[in-house]
Amino acid sequence: MKKVLSGMRPTGKLHLGHYLGVIKNWLQLQEKYDCKFFIADWHALTNKYKETDNLKENIRQMIIDWLSCGIDPQKVTLFIQSGVKEHAELALLFSMITPKSWLELNPSYKDLKFNLYYQYMRDFLAGKQIKIIQTPPPESFDEAFEKASGKQKSKIFEEYLRESFHRAFYNQKGIDFKWLREVLLKFGIQKKIVEEVIKNLEEGDVGKDIDTLGFLAYPVLQAADILIYKADAVPVGEDQLPHIELTREVARRFNNLYDEIFPEPEAILTEASRLPGIDGRKMSKSYNNAIYLSDNRETVDKKVLEMKTDPKRIRRNDPGNPEVCIVFRYHQIFTDQEKVKDIDTKCRKAEIGCVDCKKILAENLNKFLDPIRERRKEIEKDLPKYERVFQEGTEKARAIASETMLEVRKAMKLWEF
Ligand code: TRP
Ligand code: SF4
Repeated sequence: MKKVLSGMRPTGKLHLGHYLGVIKNWLQLQEKYDCKFFIADWHALTNKYKETDNLKENIRQMIIDWLSCGIDPQKVTLFIQSGVKEHAELALLFSMITPKSWLELNPSYKDLKFNLYYQYMRDFLAGKQIKIIQTPPPESFDEAFEKASGKQKSKIFEEYLRESFHRAFYNQKGIDFKWLREVLLKFGIQKKIVEEVIKNLEEGDVGKDIDTLGFLAYPVLQAADILIYKADAVPVGEDQLPHIELTREVARRFNNLYDEIFPEPEAILTEASRLPGIDGRKMSKSYNNAIYLSDNRETVDKKVLEMKTDPKRIRRNDPGNPEVCIVFRYHQIFTDQEKVKDIDTKCRKAEIGCVDCKKILAENLNKFLDPIRERRKEIEKDLPKYERVFQEGTEKARAIASETMLEVRKAMKLWEF
């Protein structure tokens, strides 16, 4: 039977986006394959090593979230990464054979750094109330920018800035500050501000937190997680594909150097959840726009009432456009198809009001969450019992992992104890 493995970092309670993007998929996989799902607590440390106060609590939350969603320990092995020390041993051995460049060029690693730097620059400029009006930007944006109205201009600026920064970032190892400086000046940003932001980027603390060996080696540990169980398939989101590719490369290199031990795993691409947060942006803890699996009825009702609707629909008798409405996006997932059609028609004819429309949604969301809430209540009554389930799973995983490590040590002709 196909062996499936996947993990999640314990970063806090799960929201609907996690459910639709990950858990829902796992629920299907657990019916068909030999699955192992684990809590990647060491991976959580790679960027959150300063904030370990919540780590244990987050792991507990994850245990409760998974089980209350119906992840079934009768069918799958559930465990906690740091309980299987063999992952660390294998990661160490892999680090011997992994060229540094594979890690430095890893797109996930570069993207993370890029985002940190870019966010910093954007926030800095926003904090200075930068308004770009005078100078049109160079190259292909010229024309678009000239033609655009005031509001569009700032959007184009945003795009251009991102693009420019992307180029300054990916041109070479560090950021190409000379070029970035030129671009910012061309936008008509005051010289003083340009110098300040560049100085901060060059000398400041941006990105320093993740300038560690552990963070760089993140994918090596992930390769060990996967290969130690000889997994055939790894369900992950698109952002994780480079890590799976690296895992395959490490497996190949190991097999060539020593002995054919590891299969090359495939990624099972899980489609990212397209469900936005209640404000229309990507659902995320940091935006404060998420609906959590652990939210109670009142909280869900309240969040749904806050949801963005068609901004042009101001009065009750204005016709609406469901295509631009967040509430409708939710209906498409949580409401039965016939009712969705009905809402679509009635919204366009102003035959249904947004408050009523939201009430229907809140009810459906609550109906969806109720069984999860029920199970959560049961689990919370006797949490130690469910922690033991993970304990037992960890022991089961360790038995398999240590078998693999015997093979690995033998293949590498290491000392045998
Ligand atoms: N990097 C994964 C994520 O952030 C978590 C993870 C760690 C993982 N080890 C793994 C996923 C092994 C799949 C297989 O989502
Ligand atoms: Fe959105 Fe419903 Fe209001 Fe139409 S009626 S705009 S779908 S909330």
